[in-house]
Amino acid sequence: MRSAKLKATDRLILALDVDDDREALGLVAELKDAVGLFKVGHQLFTAYGPDIVRRITASGGRVFLDLKYHDIPNTVAKASAEAVKLGVSIFNVHALGGLDMMKAAADSAKETAEKYGLPRPVVLAVTVLTSMDQRGLQRELKITRPLRREVCHLAKLAQRAGLDGVVASPQEIKMLRRSVRGAFVVLTPGVRPAWAGKDDQKRTMTPAEAVAAGADYLVIGRPVLKAEDRRAAVEKILEEIGQ
Ligand code: C5P
Repeated sequence: MRSAKLKATDRLILALDVDDDREALGLVAELKDAVGLFKVGHQLFTAYGPDIVRRITASGGRVFLDLKYHDIPNTVAKASAEAVKLGVSIFNVHALGGLDMMKAAADSAKETAEKYGLPRPVVLAVTVLTSMDQRGLQRELKITRPLRREVCHLAKLAQRAGLDGVVASPQEIKMLRRSVRGAFVVLTPGVRPAWAGKDDQKRTMTPAEAVAAGADYLVIGRPVLKAEDRRAAVEKILEEIGQ
């Protein structure tokens, strides 16, 4: 079940894939009223640390912290607590860290939010990285079941652990909506408006297609970052998503 009440603006997440904090903060200042969240990934976080998250939230942007925690449950619980205290709205972990690790993240987020009177972030699982194909899964990781079944299995495991949903490729959205019951958030990158180039994304969907397939949140980077008029690009995307 998707989050039906989200407005187009709430659904749109801009990937802050830039190497300069001033550029990141400039994007937040320019687009915070039109973009639901800003994604801070490994690049920006490694360069500027948690302070970049504090500066984004202080200037009115909401943050999806895309650090994909994958460690022993105790360590992930502690990192999750810090993500809550940092004030992020969404963060994620790797489902391949296992049930106990995911439970530790979910429980820690809930307990920390209650303890400090903070909003509990949405906690998502990454199932199988989309850079991994069937061949890599079997030959390298020795996971023999079909990739799509593995994605479904890990999504259900994430739900059992108490996580809110998953990060999924556009091609997986419909399958996940069919196989995972109850409230479950699906956040998808690999979204390309018809007017934008595909860059290195291979199997894309347009924003309208991804939402129709059942996505709650869309992560979009380069179609906005590379646009001559970034605001116009965001507005075109919002129009495509519809209300
Ligand atoms: O520029 P683009 O719209 O392709 O950016 C998409 C963002 O989503 C990037 O930050 C990328 O790392 C991330 N991502 C992705 N595909 C995945 C998971 C994350 O493109 N499967």
